[in-house]
Amino acid sequence: MTQSQTEMGRVIIGDRLQRLARLNKPPMSRFLLPLLAYFTLAAPLPAQDGPQLFSLYCSACHAADGKGATGGTFPPLAESPYVAGDPDRAIKIVLKGLTGPVDVLGKTYNLEMPPQGAVLPDDQIAAILTHVRSSWGNHAGPITTDQVKTSRASVADRATPWTAPEILKLHPFPLEKSVIANLLSQSFRGDWDEMPDFSKEKATNVEEEHDGILTLKNAPAAEDFAMVWTGDFVAPTVGIFTFLLDADDGATLYIDNSKVVEVKGIGPMDGSRAQEGKLTLLQGPHPIRVEYFQKKGNKGLALAWSSTRAKILHWLTEDTTNVLAVQPTSIPVGPDGDRPVIYRNFISGTTPRAIGVGFPGGINLAYSADNLAPELLWTGEFIEGTKKWNERGTADNPPAGQNVVSPSKSRALPENAKFVGYDLDSSGNPAFSVTIGSDSLVDSYHAESNTIIRKLTLTGSGPALEILIADKSIEAQLSITAEGGSLETTNTKTTLKLTPGKTVTLTYHWK
Ligand code: HEC
Repeated sequence: MTQSQTEMGRVIIGDRLQRLARLNKPPMSRFLLPLLAYFTLAAPLPAQDGPQLFSLYCSACHAADGKGATGGTFPPLAESPYVAGDPDRAIKIVLKGLTGPVDVLGKTYNLEMPPQGAVLPDDQIAAILTHVRSSWGNHAGPITTDQVKTSRASVADRATPWTAPEILKLHPFPLEKSVIANLLSQSFRGDWDEMPDFSKEKATNVEEEHDGILTLKNAPAAEDFAMVWTGDFVAPTVGIFTFLLDADDGATLYIDNSKVVEVKGIGPMDGSRAQEGKLTLLQGPHPIRVEYFQKKGNKGLALAWSSTRAKILHWLTEDTTNVLAVQPTSIPVGPDGDRPVIYRNFISGTTPRAIGVGFPGGINLAYSADNLAPELLWTGEFIEGTKKWNERGTADNPPAGQNVVSPSKSRALPENAKFVGYDLDSSGNPAFSVTIGSDSLVDSYHAESNTIIRKLTLTGSGPALEILIADKSIEAQLSITAEGGSLETTNTKTTLKLTPGKTVTLTYHWK
């Protein structure tokens, strides 16, 4: 090992261990072993020996079988999309390192890979990556020394490791196709200017589409026709799904029998008319229906989905559209994996001192620390962060999802009640604390599918207390039921009596 390599090793170890300590991840020893192995065993080798270079410079963290060291604490290179396709993606990661959250094969890692560019010359990086790209089920082509050289020159100015979004912006994954189960297509003939009412039309043909891809191959004619596809969209996980739709001419997407997104009327499919729709889905099959009509001229239908976490577009159609034209312009703030996210900033529709909570699965609430109550409950996307982040401190941010319900807009507890703060339990669910004289109230929340569960526990020696639950009728949107206590409704006002020493559980359920 040369002097400079040793020094670099020491610097990176110190820095990295500090960072790992800050990341508060699983036991340190799981990281120490691969790190120490990596930094103490490395020795100069003749170039071009990919497998041997890999075992010296990469396997301590990514494991000899490419599956990620210490039982998957580190991300795998076997079948990783980061390794496949565009050679620059992997080359640049090796040169400059990678930091922050990265999703690899369905698992999120939030670690740091130290840059290897200063230690490894171009020919060694080429040999290592050629080996990686052809091992453990990977089938990507070789990488040449020249490719590494060009890549290195293009990022020479960069001093910091990449984040996953940065590297994916430069070198995105290829578009993938995905399938719908039980897909059936129906064809119709007619000359329409807008989507026909299919209940009044008779299909000229019905086909089973066994490959699960929406295609216009079975269209009954080149012009003046319509098609309807039905089947089951199988959501791979629970989460918020974005659907991107474009068509020449019109198309509408329904999931679970509600309209998600539509492209109206007559026009081209070039991205300029593409639309996006979002909704929250539980894992598993959901009825999907796509309606499409074509008048004169060109035809086309493009439909893709992505989940908020992976941000990869999966095409459900044979055609694709110009996605660049529909790049999202906002930065949504949302839960981080399985943990709720807490958002402390102005939220439109509630008081200035509101605390937003975005639960995984697309259930959200804003608790007002002024009125001591959950003032907004909604489903789907949590908050659009754009306004706040662009215009620091000036604009409010509205709930970004749907089904927004505001049970109350007035103070829920007596004048002497004071907000004292909140705690998060081990799963990240919040409990808001309020004192009322010498008594205290813990008001905690967690979410289940389509439901918020609120637990109210009053402790102390004071009298029973009335808390406002709703000051208007919200029955059409949300049902509230109580366990361990009973809700009293007079006119449109709903209250609950709290007795010291008892817990009441309220269940808020969207209809
Ligand atoms: C000290 C540990 C360590 C070493 C050594 C290391 N990596 Fe990594 N690597 C990581 C970590 C940690 C990540 C994920 C970083 C994050 O969470 O942002 C990563 C991510 C990656 C990724 C992208 C994610 C994936 O799983 O595909 C690639 C590609 C990669 N490394 C290749 C290599 C190659 C090739 C080498 C050897 C030249 C190497 N790494 C050496 C720790 C290491």
